[in-house]
Formats: sequence, C-alpha cells, structure tokens
Amino acid sequence: MTVRYIGNKTRLLDFIRRVIRSRGIRPGRAVDPFSGTASVARALKRWQFSTAASDIMEYGYVFARAYVEVTAPPTFAGVVAETRGAHLRDAVATLNRLPPMPGFMHEHYSPAGSIGAAHGRMYFTPRNAARIDAVRDGIERWHRSGRIDLDAYHTLLASLIEAADRVANTTGVYAAFVKSWQSNALRPLQLRAERMVRGNGCTAARADAIDAIRTAGEFDLLYLDPPYNSRQYAGYYHIPELLARGWYDGDIAMRGKTGLIDDTDRRSDWSSRRRCETAFEALVGAADCRHIMMSYNAEGIISESTIERVLKDNGRRTTYRRYRQHYRRYRSDSDSEARRYSADAVYEYLYCISR
Ligand SMILES: C[S@@+](CC[C@H](N)C(=O)[O-])C[C@H]1O[C@@H](n2cnc3c(N)ncnc32)[C@H](O)[C@@H]1O
Repeated sequence: MTVRYIGNKTRLLDFIRRVIRSRGIRPGRAVDPFSGTASVARALKRWQFSTAASDIMEYGYVFARAYVEVTAPPTFAGVVAETRGAHLRDAVATLNRLPPMPGFMHEHYSPAGSIGAAHGRMYFTPRNAARIDAVRDGIERWHRSGRIDLDAYHTLLASLIEAADRVANTTGVYAAFVKSWQSNALRPLQLRAERMVRGNGCTAARADAIDAIRTAGEFDLLYLDPPYNSRQYAGYYHIPELLARGWYDGDIAMRGKTGLIDDTDRRSDWSSRRRCETAFEALVGAADCRHIMMSYNAEGIISESTIERVLKDNGRRTTYRRYRQHYRRYRSDSDSEARRYSADAVYEYLYCISR
C-alpha cells in the first residue's frame, strides 16, 4: 500500500505493536473507527485481532473492505474470457493493458478536458486521466454485469485509487495541484496486485466513528487515530473519494479551481477546534472495551491535558500511560540532512488506558 495520506501510520506499525505487547493486550476483537488507508486495521488483522475498520470517507470504506474485511483472494472466473486467468494479478494485468478512453477524469481533472482546461487543472496528464477513466469504467462494467463480486470490486478499486495517487500531480493532498508536471505524474498509471492478509471475522463500514462504536457492542481494543488538525479530509482527498464512489449515478456538482465535490455529510467534528473535545469525550464514553489506545500528534488540536483527563475518567487511572516515538516527517524539499532533521523531528504519541 503506497497511498500518500495525512496521518498514515504505516511507519509506526512497529511502535504500535510494541505498545500492544508491552501492555499485555492479547488478540481479541479490535475496532479502528478512523481507519483511513487501513494500514493499522490491516496490521491488527495480521496480528490476529478480529478487526472492525471504518471511516467517514468512501475511499476509507474501499480500503477497509479490500484490506480488512476481504478474507481470501477474490476470484475473477466470471471475466476469465477477458483476463485469461482467474487471479487478481490477471485482472490487474488486463486493466493495465486497457487503452486510454477519455471520460470523466480526463474532462474534469486533466488540462485536456474542456472543464479541466477552463480551470487550468493539472491533476493528471491527459493520458493518465484517460487511462484512469478506462480502468474505472472497466471495473464498473464487470461489477454491474455481475461478473465480479463485491470483494473483487473493492479490491480493484483500492488498487486503482493507489495507482492514481502514485501518478497524481500533487504534493500529497488533492487540495492543490502542481503547476508543472512532476516526474511521478509523467509515469504511466500502473495498478498492482496487493497481497491479501488472511483473517477471520473482520468487517468494514463507512460510518461516523461514534456510530461505529455504538454498533460494535463489547470488544477488547479500541484503536483511535482521529484527525489532529482542522483540515477536513473530505476537502483534501476529493479525487480518491470520486474514484471510490464513481460517477455513474447522476450528476456530480463540482466547484472551484480544484473541482471540489459536495462534502457536507463528510465534514468531521474532530477537525473542528470547537467541537473536537466534545466528540472525543462522547466517543470514549460510548466505547464498551477493555483497552483504549489513541494515536495523536504533538501538534494536535485536542490538548494533552484533555486527553489525559478524559481517558482517566473512563478507565483505571493507574493504567494510564503516554508512549512516545520519534518520528521524522516526510519532506520533499532539498534541505540539508541536518536541517531537515532538526526542523522535522516530531514525536508521535500513543495514549493508553485500560479498564
Ligand atoms: C489520521 S487519519 C487515520 C489514518 C489511518 N490510521 C492510516 O494509517 O491511514 C484520520 C481518519 O479519520 C477519518 N475521519 C475523520 N472524521 C471522522 C469521523 N467523524 N468518523 C469516522 N472517520 C473520520 C478521516 O477520513 C481519516 O481517514
């Protein structure tokens, strides 16, 4: 999984695992209601937790389905006449061979489309945009004709979202595009067949975190990784969201220079300075679990004293502990190694309590 994503915990998985072990938390039922790229939920699944992963965004749901809920490699027997093999790698190779077919992405998010040109949008080269269109349409055609099941559908969508991200002409978020072509954007779109993690009883949902907790019932480990600043993910990742939702069920209203879509039902209290503490308190209060672990950034909008108070009010006070990991933020500029280190050495924290 290679998607560039604010708060992606791929590089902190060892740290998370060490803390789980040091607290003596044994595999059981885990809930990750802010699962994003599903990096942690997928790792929890690998560590034998029966994991419920969910996110407010549709692409989060796609990742959670593909990497957490799906338990066995999907089969492509229904499209074998086209793919010449029933494995994921055969389907991916077939999609990678599709000729460009200018459509929605080409029209709106490349400079060759009339709407894209009117706004000077350079999210994808015209060729990559037309290849994204061909692949997205191909996946939808297989799905709507009933020739692939939902496991296969979501697995291919996750692969496309990641492939599109690798060639997106952005610096990591879609709130802006770069005004000249970066080298990654000039590479051809290439889907990859990800390895499947086998697991049992894992689930995926698109849900607000509080609803995910309320439906979870009793469980063992709550892993929280909420947004930590006022950037709304819905506004930063509208193109992955479009790729996940598709554009086949009616008109989509887009606005502004970057082609934002309506996000009123995706805006999060956790990204609001006024509402985040109330949301945090409500969530922890609603969780019926034995252990809580929360990843949070040192620069986050919920103060450390609030985190400590809320967790201690909702657990055995003596089990509260804050774990710290040195974390080097990715930067793409050309600063010298020494300067980059001092400017970007930040800590990532895990706040834990048991009940
Ligand atoms: C810091 S990221 C999680 C990153 C994830 N752990 C990973 O490794 O990719 C926070 C996530 O919370 C989601 N989110 C924000 N508000 C939410 C809410 N109210 N309910 C559920 N998910 C929400 C965002 O869409 C985003 O994916």
